[in-house]
Amino acid sequence: MQLNGNTILITGGTSGIGLALAKRFSDLGNQILVCGTNVKKLEEIQKTYPKWGTYLRDISKADEREKLFQETTKDFPELNVLFNNAGIQRYPKLNELEPWTDLGKEIDVNLGAPIHLSMLFAKHLFAKKNAVILNTTSGLSHIPLAYAPVYSATKAALHSFTLTLRFQFRNQPIEVIEVSPPMVDTDLGIPNTHTAGLNLDVYADSVIEGLKKGDLEITTGFSTVTANVSREQKNEIFLSMNLARSTSN
Ligand SMILES: NC(=O)c1ccc[n+]([C@@H]2O[C@H](COP(=O)([O-])OP(=O)(O)OC[C@H]3O[C@@H](n4cnc5c(N)ncnc54)[C@H](OP(=O)(O)O)[C@@H]3O)[C@@H](O)[C@H]2O)c1
Repeated sequence: MQLNGNTILITGGTSGIGLALAKRFSDLGNQILVCGTNVKKLEEIQKTYPKWGTYLRDISKADEREKLFQETTKDFPELNVLFNNAGIQRYPKLNELEPWTDLGKEIDVNLGAPIHLSMLFAKHLFAKKNAVILNTTSGLSHIPLAYAPVYSATKAALHSFTLTLRFQFRNQPIEVIEVSPPMVDTDLGIPNTHTAGLNLDVYADSVIEGLKKGDLEITTGFSTVTANVSREQKNEIFLSMNLARSTSN
């Protein structure tokens, strides 16, 4: 990926990993567009970074994704990078039925949105130079955390989708990059509880380094381990990680 001169739409660019990378891309000389559902975060970003495009859109909804495509490509026709980064993490117990609207939203944000947005933007991106789609997966794409069962399944599926997207677009001038974080200290899940991970700035710097090297699958720490271990080691890590986390899940 060329690291300057792009116009980059980052879903979930309003906090955490998305915002940390948005700042770095901006410093490298890229036009940044972010979208999220939190008005206050978007207003704060607009104040701090007046040149960035900000979009209040809930990407769990198909019609909002269509509007996001229409308005971003109208406002910034040069848009050449789609970064599917937004995600949510919930902790449903699988023997306690919840309304499908709650369970389904995690699937819609983490998986439905990247698939739909990639397809919505594909034709637009095919016509651009240096076009890129980045998808944020997870170390849990390869070994699931039972405590976050739907989240882990969406990230496994997004890893799979990223591989097929790259294959289907292999003859188009479009690069498909997977960003696979380990645990990073952000507000993912329950705010202020996700504190046992990698420092956000250290992590964001490592992603930029991976992009500079031209990596197509950027893994770090735990996600490098889970992406590369043998099937036997996967079983061992699955058991030790999940037994350590909880005995009730
Ligand atoms: N932190 C980790 O340990 C970790 C590990 C592996 C993978 N990841 C992945 O990294 C990505 C970023 O997560 P993060 O850790 O940076 O968490 P975060 O700080 O909670 O950021 C999540 C972002 O997603 C946006 N978002 C959530 N629901 C949305 C919706 N319906 N429509 C539009 N935007 C929405 C949020 O914006 P609003 O609040 O404005 O809606 C926010 O900007 C996610 O895909 C996550 O799964 C994180």
